Amino acid sequence: MKAEHKTVFIAFSSQKGGVGKSTFTTLTASTLHYRLGYNVVVFDADFPQYSLAKMKARDLAMVMENEALKKMAYKQFSTINKKAYPIIQCKAEGLLETAYDFLGTSPVPIDVVFFDLPGTVNTPGILKALAGTNHIFTPITADRLVMESTLIFTQLMKDVIMKEGETSIRSINLFWNQVDGRERSPLYEIYNKLIHDLGLSLMECQVMSSTRFRKESEMTAKAIFRSTVLPPEEQMMKACRFDRFMAEFLRIVQL
Ligand SMILES: Nc1ncnc2c1ncn2[C@@H]1O[C@H](COP(=O)(O)OP(=O)(O)OP(=O)(O)O)[C@@H](O)[C@H]1O
Ligand SMILES: [Mg+2]
Repeated sequence: MKAEHKTVFIAFSSQKGGVGKSTFTTLTASTLHYRLGYNVVVFDADFPQYSLAKMKARDLAMVMENEALKKMAYKQFSTINKKAYPIIQCKAEGLLETAYDFLGTSPVPIDVVFFDLPGTVNTPGILKALAGTNHIFTPITADRLVMESTLIFTQLMKDVIMKEGETSIRSINLFWNQVDGRERSPLYEIYNKLIHDLGLSLMECQVMSSTRFRKESEMTAKAIFRSTVLPPEEQMMKACRFDRFMAEFLRIVQL
């Protein structure tokens, strides 16, 4: 008998908007799918914005209009011999069922499923979707409001959902994002201690704040960072320490 194929469910989640959920979903999904050979699918439940689904249309258009990127994409798709990963728009409500339906009919076995959820628990279905994931990654920034809502929510998730026994969650990981290299804020030490005292897991890596995240790369760019159709360029990954994030991510999720 063939060994059962295990699909890992992952969500970058936060109760705060604009902390990097969609960005990290894209960077991680693209690295896994285009560079490391895994098969990925992304569910964009960020209704009604659907920012990732829109991003894919923009990314494709940009690649087609830029000669250097077009060559790169052509080379990539002919070398790895597979399509871009699907980004499926759906509502958070019923997300798990939608995902399982997709897995059941997918012609290729899916290794990793990402849920990109809206940043509020008030949306129906969010908690259920989160409880159905295996690993949750939560970007945090040294901002009092972000920290307050994150610590309260993560504590709650850990206490309520993980103790019910029914859950598939194996890890909840906080990580610092948008860290300013020039500034040595005492806030980091204070928050690190608080996170530790609450018994929450904090990743070692700290992803730097970098303009690369903001530039949607110009038409003349010869390399690309955040894209749904190409993997992030390696030098760029290194510069903001996303490479370290990726290494730690892989150790945690154990694909
Ligand atoms: N390390 C970083 N350095 C600089 N900018 C960053 C970094 N991480 C994320 N950003 C920027 O922060 C903004 C918000 O990121 P993103 O859209 O991924 O957040 P989000 O959590 O998905 O937001 P929303 O709640 O609106 O869905 C984007 O403009 C993104 O480029
Ligand atoms: Mg988002």
